[in-house]
Amino acid sequence: MYTGLQHLHSYMTYLVLAGVLISLLVALAGWFGNKPFTDKDRKLGLLGLIPTHLQWVIGVILYFVSPLGLDGATEGFMKNSVSRLYVLEHPLTMIIAVVLITIGYSRAKRMVGTGNGFKSIAIFYGIGLILILSRIPWNAWPGN
Ligand code: HEM
Repeated sequence: MYTGLQHLHSYMTYLVLAGVLISLLVALAGWFGNKPFTDKDRKLGLLGLIPTHLQWVIGVILYFVSPLGLDGATEGFMKNSVSRLYVLEHPLTMIIAVVLITIGYSRAKRMVGTGNGFKSIAIFYGIGLILILSRIPWNAWPGN
């Protein structure tokens, strides 16, 4: 089960990055193009939201089965940058990113018909994407 989840988490990262990036670019184009935010645009926001949520659930399960997750929290792990990344920084930062992306989408959902939905998605997904990129274990991903 561990190896399967590890691979799934690794491959899902492509969908997360592509989904969030597409939603973000669409939102930026709509925002700066002064277009009204339609229900179709709301659905494009789901491209970023859905894979991110799935990834979050897989990550939480992985945290309890991977030797790099909770099991890595041995004495002095904070002094080791790799252990600190997997045990603390990666999970915490990704959870904050997922929360921000969810807030951006939820706010936008209530703004269909106005221009502000694009702004909400652009800002919250943008910050979320920066956080995700900042704490991907680049030493291990995408691998060889
Ligand atoms: C948007 C959310 C997330 C993204 C994009 C993401 C991405 C990644 C990537 C790229 C790796 C390295 C995979 C590899 O070695 O090929 C990884 C590993 C890991 N992630 Fe996440 N992650 C996310 C959320 C989470 C969350 C919320 C948790 C835990 C609460 C988590 C726990 C882990 C663990 C424990 C590993 C190490 C797995 C292992 O190799 O044993 N991730 N993640």
